Amino acid sequence: MAQRVVVTGASSGIGAATVRRFTEIGWDTVAVARREDRLQQLAQETGCLPVVCDITDEAQVAQLAETVRETGGATGLVNNAGGAIGLDRVEDASNDEWRRMFEVNVIGLRSVTAALLPVLREGATRDGWASILNLTSTAGHGVYKHGGGYIAAKSAAHAVTEVLRLELAGEPIRVMELAPGLVHTEEFTLNRMRGDVDAAARLGIYDDVEPLTPEDVARVLVGTFEQPPHVNQDLIILRPVAQSSHVDTHKGPLVPRES
Ligand SMILES: NC(=O)c1ccc[n+]([C@@H]2O[C@H](COP(=O)([O-])OP(=O)(O)OC[C@H]3O[C@@H](n4cnc5c(N)ncnc54)[C@H](OP(=O)(O)O)[C@@H]3O)[C@@H](O)[C@H]2O)c1
Repeated sequence: MAQRVVVTGASSGIGAATVRRFTEIGWDTVAVARREDRLQQLAQETGCLPVVCDITDEAQVAQLAETVRETGGATGLVNNAGGAIGLDRVEDASNDEWRRMFEVNVIGLRSVTAALLPVLREGATRDGWASILNLTSTAGHGVYKHGGGYIAAKSAAHAVTEVLRLELAGEPIRVMELAPGLVHTEEFTLNRMRGDVDAAARLGIYDDVEPLTPEDVARVLVGTFEQPPHVNQDLIILRPVAQSSHVDTHKGPLVPRES
């Protein structure tokens, strides 16, 4: 029987690429997001089970867990849904936007994990093991100016991942974290700029640099699930070569220096 994984935030970017990659290696996937049309397109392409769910709504998350159980269970969970809103100084930020970032990046992640743990335990009882991977960010591992809400939320998601690993000790469930740097996805920066296409373009984040692609992230992410079950890759920091730290992005070609 094929292994089965639940991927949140599957309607675009890294999540959609992750569903495609799992499909390539023969896993069944459950694709979770709010936008049904996009999930349906992905389902036609990959055969995933699309489940519309707002992970910040507890009743919808409970229903998600029930749907996963009734349709064959799971041995994998990728908590990928998330994102940033705004590039404001701490003193200028909106509490409402900070709440929304915490709701999706931290509380939604906790909520989905808690709801699916019984299903993952059933999977581990059947197949011997299960895996959880949380998609955080290099923003959760170092600070920069004007991103306080997102940095605080992803730092919290990192902390939750570490606590969960401690709490699941003794069970055949690995708990992993993948923290990417600059990834060029269609919507991340657009959402960060509150849907303002011109403002997103003006930032020039992806200009004159080769960022990671969603496929790069998905390849590494799925690779962690392909390791023997006793191998737990606690934390992977994944950056493009052009980004030597979260605050140092080299613009222009990468050229060997003369020695
Ligand atoms: N792009 C980057 O540079 C980068 C770098 C490091 C980390 N990350 C992290 O990687 C993850 C994916 O990022 P991405 O670049 O692929 O972003 P994206 O293209 O904006 O995708 C975000 C996904 O999350 C889903 N989502 C948002 N709110 C949701 C909710 N309340 N309930 C269910 N699904 C929800 C969205 O789907 P719907 O709108 O259809 O619900 C979408 O599928 C995020 O956690 C992000 O913070 C991104």
